[in-house]
Amino acid sequence: MFKTKERFLGVDISPSSVKVMEIIRKGKRLQVEACAIESLPEGIFEDHKPNDVEQVAMALKQAVKSSGTRLRKAAVAMPTAGVIMRTVAMPNEYDETAIEDALEVDAAQYIPFPIDDIYMDFEPRGASRTGRDFRDVMIVAARRELVDLRRDVLQEAGLKCIIADVETYALENTFRLLSSDLYFAGEELTDEHMSRLNTIRTAVVDVGAYATSLYVLHGERAVFSRDQAIGCSTLTQAIADTYDMTRDQALLAQRSSDLPADYEPTVLEPFRHSVAEQVSGALQFYYSSGNYNSIDSIVLVGGGGMIEGLERTLSGYIGVPSIIGNPFNNFTTAKRVNRHGLMRDAPLYATACGLAIRSLDQ
Ligand SMILES: Nc1ncnc2c1ncn2[C@@H]1O[C@H](COP(=O)(O)OP(=O)(O)OP(=O)(O)O)[C@@H](O)[C@H]1O
Ligand SMILES: [Mg+2]
Repeated sequence: MFKTKERFLGVDISPSSVKVMEIIRKGKRLQVEACAIESLPEGIFEDHKPNDVEQVAMALKQAVKSSGTRLRKAAVAMPTAGVIMRTVAMPNEYDETAIEDALEVDAAQYIPFPIDDIYMDFEPRGASRTGRDFRDVMIVAARRELVDLRRDVLQEAGLKCIIADVETYALENTFRLLSSDLYFAGEELTDEHMSRLNTIRTAVVDVGAYATSLYVLHGERAVFSRDQAIGCSTLTQAIADTYDMTRDQALLAQRSSDLPADYEPTVLEPFRHSVAEQVSGALQFYYSSGNYNSIDSIVLVGGGGMIEGLERTLSGYIGVPSIIGNPFNNFTTAKRVNRHGLMRDAPLYATACGLAIRSLDQ
């Protein structure tokens, strides 16, 4: 949301773990220069807020250390659910200052929160349907306490927060890396590809620890998002209940797939089915909100991308092709980066990657 010319680290502070990523340009290709994931204890987040800043900061400090990055400036993501985005048509002749002035006067009209409780920013987004004399401006308002707490975590960990981006935008950036592989057989994107892409609708499904977010993208732009209350921890709990384990034991077993033979039919499959049902339900809201009643494909990111066969269940249930989002296929990796680990954990890095990529746009 704030503009900068400095290089920075992508930092995804999420309920289950902290992820950091540094990306650089290396010749024609992109390179993961540093990355790390550090787990957080359960229950450390409430309503998108870390309730123990120090403990999260310690995990972040550790992630920065084990990644080996030298960067100390960082971009963080605001959870989409803690942010309000509105598209407003404004006269073409409005420059940045005029838009700022208009927002100051009319904020209450656009954003249903007291102005003192939010940070506001905007981004011009091109032609508007309102008429030729107007362009669309995306207004973004983030709950102030969500931004401030993340900034505190970074500061406590010795980092400086220079960008607070919206998770939606970070995922748009990551999708941009995937779109060529997904739709154009990995070819470099030309103007013709781009105009074809603009007619394509993709569902990016982020299955996290406690929530699943559906984003529908028209071309490269997210036009719809919706959260559902199901996540990988639902599976962890089902494992704990079925096999009489603690949650920690269940999580370990889930990760190593070291579970009895009946695990797949009795626990895993019902979970996959519930996720597909929830995503399909969320899609119905997208269909009823606009002019479309289909999507072209699904990209699965987040912890859900680590769950055996979830992308196949989604594909079967919703009836479109689906892939696990790995934005790093065409990347090189620095020597200190464990390439195998990065490829394995790729879907977990979707948000951190999208944040880190922005550092190259400057
Ligand atoms: N190797 C693995 N196998 C199976 N599940 C895994 C594996 N690694 C992580 N997970 C699951 O992924 C979840 C974390 O996913 P992710 O990091 O996307 O969530 P988050 O971003 O912290 O949370 P949210 O998106 O809900 O805010 C964990 O709860 C865990 O259950
Ligand atoms: Mg997440």
